[in-house]
Amino acid sequence: MLEIADFIPSKYNNTIDRGSFSWSAPSNIALVKYWGKKDKQIPANPSVSFTLNNCKTITSLAFAKKQNDGNFSFDLLFEGKPKEDFKPKIQKFLERVEVYLPFLKDYHFTIDTQNTFPHSSGIASSASGMAALAMNFMSLEKALNPAMTEEYFLSKASFLARLGSGSACRSVKGQVVVWGNQSNIKRSTDLYGVEYPYEIHPVFNNFQDTILLVDKGEKQVSSTVGHDLMHNHPFAERRFAQAHENLDKLIPVFKNGDLEEFIKIVESEALTLHAMMMTSLPYFILMKPNTLQIINAIWKFRNETKIPVCFTLDAGANVHVLYPNEFKENVLQFIKAELVGYCQNGQYLCDEIGNGALSN
Ligand code: PMV
Repeated sequence: MLEIADFIPSKYNNTIDRGSFSWSAPSNIALVKYWGKKDKQIPANPSVSFTLNNCKTITSLAFAKKQNDGNFSFDLLFEGKPKEDFKPKIQKFLERVEVYLPFLKDYHFTIDTQNTFPHSSGIASSASGMAALAMNFMSLEKALNPAMTEEYFLSKASFLARLGSGSACRSVKGQVVVWGNQSNIKRSTDLYGVEYPYEIHPVFNNFQDTILLVDKGEKQVSSTVGHDLMHNHPFAERRFAQAHENLDKLIPVFKNGDLEEFIKIVESEALTLHAMMMTSLPYFILMKPNTLQIINAIWKFRNETKIPVCFTLDAGANVHVLYPNEFKENVLQFIKAELVGYCQNGQYLCDEIGNGALSN
């Protein structure tokens, strides 16, 4: 397991004047949720997620050597066009990671980024975006230090992505990723995401996630504010303990493919996440009436058909519908017949479990 000090490089052997890299990184969907953090993006509890496959950010990083004048220098393009309002977030990220990437002020960067999912679909691009950017910076660091191991590369990319947006650290690898220290999961750490290290039943192969776009508007409460409201939250300590318990309970579930138990844990986690929002001060609700309509329709369908389909939620109104690949046709038919009416403009995205970031 790597410690913070391992991510502060000593001198580089190589020099490189200019070049470019390009990486794609997927979004991820948490089964056990991260909600609440300590200083420096250290999670208050461990989480586990499925890495997705189709909802991705693709980012290229062009770099050219400049005089180190003590400033960061970068242009930011979104779908090829300058995007000034993304710049403060990137500036903050560069400030946070500079100590781990001491070459950052030696280059001018052009960051060109795009998403495969529709703009403002209510799907956060921060996880995939920060992971893709971190992979690019690691490619540059590897060019400066070619002896770097693959494991170090990936762990540090996840470590850097975490400093951009916590859940982004789970988007570097696939298919099931744990972030946060959990005594029963070897090598798990608060510092970066690790591939789930134990047996996973084949029922989870190509596991499906159909994302129902219920509300594509701006969230009224950002996840940064939401995490903060877990400080002094009346149920915080119990909630953090519960996340540890649920993660432990998932270990045998992943192994034996017990979907009944899987569904209980995953749906309870989703509702608990939103219960934390509803019981913080100030309190808030991110679910919409159609979120509840969908949840009820899924429960009814599951009862009637015995098909093991369940839902989870992230910090918004959209619903992730999770189910084994073998039921894809039946569930898509159900979604088209009964759920699209609850989606904004009838929109939904078909995704599935995937393998993590890829170099283009
Ligand atoms: O990574 P952040 O700070 O945007 O937090 C995301 C938190 C949830 O999506 C609600 C849960 C999770 O574990 O991804």
